[in-house]
Amino acid sequence: MSWVCEGGGKCYTPLKIISMKLKKVQLDDWELLRTLEEASATKMYAPCEGEEGYKKYIEESTVYFIMDKKNAVGTISYEIQKDGKCVINGLTVKPEHRSRGIARQAMEYLLNEIDDREIELVVHPENIPALLIYLHLGFIITKWEDNHFGDGEPRLHLKKKSRKGRS
Ligand SMILES: CC(C)(COP(=O)(O)OP(=O)(O)OC[C@H]1O[C@@H](n2cnc3c(N)ncnc32)[C@H](O)[C@@H]1OP(=O)(O)O)[C@@H](O)C(=O)NCCC(=O)NCCS
Repeated sequence: MSWVCEGGGKCYTPLKIISMKLKKVQLDDWELLRTLEEASATKMYAPCEGEEGYKKYIEESTVYFIMDKKNAVGTISYEIQKDGKCVINGLTVKPEHRSRGIARQAMEYLLNEIDDREIELVVHPENIPALLIYLHLGFIITKWEDNHFGDGEPRLHLKKKSRKGRS
């Protein structure tokens, strides 16, 4: 097994070299999408509800399966809203595939696709792995909100400037 450490110097987390890619989720894939999303449901991440909820999510967002070889091991998505705002609205990795650098690599792939825009997202303040990914990739925290989704849980708002100057 090969491992790399980024940045030189002290390295606390080895990243296994992985070969993953993103595969666009189609409407018919909603059940697999639900299985993956529900595997990650916690107070920090609330998936959609029901067939209609998942189909609406697939129609309104660009949703990808994160593929490790032929297996879907996670999900990642963004939505271009009516006002042109780009919001990353999903990121999950199945529990048994976590801490291998999969989510971070998937985010890097996604940012290559959308980094001509300013990007926003929200994350639970206790969600350390997610926060580490976003902060390392250049997002900054802009706001704390006590009850963003109405579930009584707080969220941090994060923003990343467009690489090409567009907002
Ligand atoms: C957040 C999530 C997608 C991360 O997936 P992952 O593939 O395990 O993430 P990575 O392996 O790329 O690790 C991301 C960072 O967290 C760190 N990390 C991994 N596991 C960790 C743990 N248990 N505790 C603390 N940090 C951890 C890694 O070192 C890495 O940091 P680095 O970029 O500084 O090296 C995954 O935990 C998940 O699906 N959570 C539930 C859904 C969720 O909360 N999504 C985020 C919504 S905003």
